[in-house]
Amino acid sequence: MEVSEAIQKRVTTRRWKQVPVEKEKILSVLQAGRRAPSWGNVQPWRFVVIQDQAKIAELAKLAGGQPHIGAAPAIIVCCGFMEAFSKSMHRESLKQLIQAGVMDWPDELLDNIVLGSDLFAPYRLGEQAMTIKASEQVMISIAYMTLEAVNQGLGCCWAGAISRKEVHNLLNLPDNWFVHDFLLLGYADENPKPRPRKPLSEIAFWEKV
Ligand SMILES: Cc1cc2nc3c(=O)[nH]c(=O)nc-3n(C[C@H](O)[C@H](O)[C@H](O)COP(=O)(O)O)c2cc1C
Repeated sequence: MEVSEAIQKRVTTRRWKQVPVEKEKILSVLQAGRRAPSWGNVQPWRFVVIQDQAKIAELAKLAGGQPHIGAAPAIIVCCGFMEAFSKSMHRESLKQLIQAGVMDWPDELLDNIVLGSDLFAPYRLGEQAMTIKASEQVMISIAYMTLEAVNQGLGCCWAGAISRKEVHNLLNLPDNWFVHDFLLLGYADENPKPRPRKPLSEIAFWEKV
């Protein structure tokens, strides 16, 4: 499927056929998340796949009882790893880019310019900036996964109205992870119309506003 076709076809699904999603399809979706662009290549996303119906029921309760969450055949709990933007881990990620031969920065540039700059290194601005940056990255990965879900013939629903701390506790996640959003996956049992969007004339501008 062409990317633009997947973009056009993606709609939020809230009615599911009660059939499981094949592991290969979930793996393809996760692979798309893994390929999302990442600041400094820190890749702070972490994904927990839940297919156990009892756990899904618990997750739905922690999402205000949204019925389409409880009925979803699979949920990817999309999390962030806060320390990915610490100085040492950000440096490690950049070093990996150098080792992979995709960047040829000398250590001096890495330490003095990149990691020494408020512009390039979120750790310098504190924990809040690091968490915002990690959240942003997780969201990009979710967006990628929605498109691969379409490519795999799956419906999906991004769900952010969730009690994050409670989900964290329920799944016994590591302390240095934070829960971001759910991505529900399954075969759609509906054919929703594309939701309206603002016209380009209202949101896009050439050269000046
Ligand atoms: C960050 C985010 C959080 C969302 N949270 C929920 C949610 O908790 N429950 C839900 O049913 N839909 C949720 N949605 C889906 C939106 O309601 C949906 O994308 C929007 O209505 C536009 O429809 P479309 O996705 O079909 O274009 C969320 C979407 C995003 C991007």
